[in-house]
Amino acid sequence: MITPDASPTLAMNERVNALWAEGIDVLHLGFGESRFPVHPALSKAFQENIHQRSYLPSLGNASLRTAIAKYYSEKLNLSFDAEQILIGVGSKSLLYAMIQSIDGDLLLSKPSWVSYSSIARLTGKSVHWFELDRDDEFGLSIASLDSCYNDACAIGSDPQILVLNSPNNPVGNNIKPDMVESVAKWARDKDIFILSDEVYSLVTHDGFIHHTPAASNPERTIIFGGLSKHLSLGGWRFGMAILPKNDIGKQLSKSFQSIAGSVWSCVPAPIQATAELAYSGDRDIDAYIQTCTEIHRIRTNYIHQGLNKMGLKSPTPKGGFYLYPSFIKWTDKLNEMGILTCNDLSNHLMNQLGIATLPGSAFGDDPENLCLRFSTSYLDMETDQLAQESIDAYEKENQSESFLTLHHPRIALFLEKFGSFISELDK
Ligand SMILES: Cc1ncc(COP(=O)(O)O)c(C=O)c1O
Repeated sequence: MITPDASPTLAMNERVNALWAEGIDVLHLGFGESRFPVHPALSKAFQENIHQRSYLPSLGNASLRTAIAKYYSEKLNLSFDAEQILIGVGSKSLLYAMIQSIDGDLLLSKPSWVSYSSIARLTGKSVHWFELDRDDEFGLSIASLDSCYNDACAIGSDPQILVLNSPNNPVGNNIKPDMVESVAKWARDKDIFILSDEVYSLVTHDGFIHHTPAASNPERTIIFGGLSKHLSLGGWRFGMAILPKNDIGKQLSKSFQSIAGSVWSCVPAPIQATAELAYSGDRDIDAYIQTCTEIHRIRTNYIHQGLNKMGLKSPTPKGGFYLYPSFIKWTDKLNEMGILTCNDLSNHLMNQLGIATLPGSAFGDDPENLCLRFSTSYLDMETDQLAQESIDAYEKENQSESFLTLHHPRIALFLEKFGSFISELDK
């Protein structure tokens, strides 16, 4: 029997919710959920479509696929057709279906988002981990990829799938444009598929600057996205993928149709109708995405700078809402406290300081690297009301400094508690 692990991110969120329900306060940096309210026009569209109750095509409504193709053609400055689009129950279902459909094993960066390796386990594939350059903001290098690929081939493995994720969870960085191009060419030379997880492509920190490997390697790149991050609609479970415009894409589409048709049939009808509006290019919705992204940027940078001042280094945030600090320089002191691994450290912070984080090991990192993932999306946005107040305050203050200092008591509390913890380590 296959016994994959439960998702550590979902498990942590459930643990924090259970503690909150008992009245125990926890500062929640353990879950990557964007917390902004549903945009009013999407809420209205959903309610107006609630009567839709029929099964729909597994590939999705033609009008929705056309809207998605147009939307991403404009955003990425490429040309996609509706036939290239798949929709799924969150991008997870699409990742699962594609990994299941493509022969061969996976190449994953260390660390990588939790679900890629668990999907590999579910589909009976091996994972080969390649190192990122920890001294250079966890940058990707062709040398590291090459060596991982060669080692995998040398032991008789068949690596056919490279997963890239930019902007990145858990690291919070992105892949630089020239490296996106180099890695796309590297994969093309080796006939490897790139599964390019771009679910944070509309949550970038320097305006909408996003580069996809599909621009240089359209033949074998599959792009993944969805509504979970830029529109805070994780619980609506809507994902999309863009297949290559060729025979391989057509085969993958057929395979997807068979998996979706056998397991979940289709994305719920009211969600499909509402997603059509989300991908219509509506100006107000696009402005809302920018506002939410800007708030993520301001908050994430603020926490990053606060931690930097304490001497706790993490890669410069480039998109999404994550920080990935390393405590390795305090290894001796932590070991004296009985903290040997990132898991011990995460447990210590939870039990002693009431701070929820995730250990790097949940993302395939080595436990003794003593890295943690902090998600910056939850603090001061614990309820829908607080999240709405945050947007109102951002629009009123129009100035990141006062917006932060006046409206983020829990971020302040987190930085204060964390500062005391780091001072102890420095003693
Ligand atoms: C890198 C990455 N990919 C995919 C997902 C899943 O997104 P969805 O809600 O579309 O399944 C997440 C969610 O945390 C993520 O961080």
